[in-house]
Amino acid sequence: MSVSDAPAAVDEARLWRRHMSLAEIGATAKGGVDRQALSEEEARARALLAEWASELGYAVSVDGISNLFIRREGTDPALAPVLTGSHIDSQPTGGKFDGAYGVLAGIEALQALDEAGIETARPIETVAWLNEEGSRFAPGMMGSEAFAGLRPFDEIAAVADRGGTSVADDLPRAFAATPGAERRGIGFPVAAFVEAHIEQGPALERAGIPIGVVTGIQGVRRMRVRVTGEEAHAGTTPKSARRDALWEAARMVDALQRRIHRDDEHRFTVGMMEIRPNVPSVVAAEVLFSIDIRHPDSDTLARLEAEVDGICRNSLVACDVETWTIAQAPSIWFDDGVVDTIESAAVDLELGNMRLFSGAGHDARQLSFVCPTGMIFVPCEKGISHNEAENASPADLADGARVLAETLVRLANG
Ligand code: GLV
Ligand code: MN
Ligand code: MN
Repeated sequence: MSVSDAPAAVDEARLWRRHMSLAEIGATAKGGVDRQALSEEEARARALLAEWASELGYAVSVDGISNLFIRREGTDPALAPVLTGSHIDSQPTGGKFDGAYGVLAGIEALQALDEAGIETARPIETVAWLNEEGSRFAPGMMGSEAFAGLRPFDEIAAVADRGGTSVADDLPRAFAATPGAERRGIGFPVAAFVEAHIEQGPALERAGIPIGVVTGIQGVRRMRVRVTGEEAHAGTTPKSARRDALWEAARMVDALQRRIHRDDEHRFTVGMMEIRPNVPSVVAAEVLFSIDIRHPDSDTLARLEAEVDGICRNSLVACDVETWTIAQAPSIWFDDGVVDTIESAAVDLELGNMRLFSGAGHDARQLSFVCPTGMIFVPCEKGISHNEAENASPADLADGARVLAETLVRLANG
């Protein structure tokens, strides 16, 4: 198929500059960003997106959960829009590109369409979904889950961070960041969703291929384990009389590593542990820890989840344990039509490409339940992500934005 004029109008330097400007908000000493959901920093990032959007003449709107939309009008405004985008929140020790790339590539694509003088029948909207990462308010993917009707607003609004501040408490900060934005209800008909993202793994870089055509996303279970023991004096309490929650939690983590983290196909992470009272001379009375399990096969994932409670109980010595699941998602496969559209855009642009299955979770998972959905990956340096050292090349980011722009033209006129 012939290529529209949009990809040639993608401006590599402009796209890179916007990444660097956004990365100043919440910048960390090690070169990454800390821009957690509904923080002051995230609000400033929202304001910057809205400023860019109004300079370009696009309407900005926010829905009831503070998903932010930037709309380039179609020749038939009544048609359901094509959506693109990702998230601008980050992990506390996050990088400049995870999430930000999908939003900035979306803005770049809209601007490229303008500069190429392209009209589309459908409107195209670039969205920044609320709280993809879930490190402050867990679990994440809040904006896309609400949009797709997978999780009720009231349940999301009640989620609190470690300091006791709830989503409902801090939502006004997000709304205040874009005072001129039109308010919309949560969820509306969408013709298709395409999310651009850095790969967050090493496959593209190793293969020397600039474009990943993503076929789906592996499933995940997010769990919590609470081990309850009893405070006791470190100097006077004999081992036989202790109910040491930290030692027993450590036994559990080790047993889970051996039983669940069987090989490289299984992904098992204990990334968070809270210890009470967390002082050197008192035996720990309570430990709360997180479990993140991923596997491409949904049945295997369900089996692994079911094993967790027994493994923890078998590790007990004198404490009690409680396990529960806070989020579960099966593996999903993207829409063949959208996957093929992305792939043919890359082929027609003569950009090397390969099909990939995503190990990381993305908002595209939630959207796949309500509209035809796909994703475009670009390489990132050494596959490093969820790390302040995360990096990507301006040329690769621009190539991904070219494929995105062409894909959007085809979907919005298809
Ligand atoms: C998303 O950031 C994930 O944890 O996969
Ligand atoms: Mn992301
Ligand atoms: Mn992430």
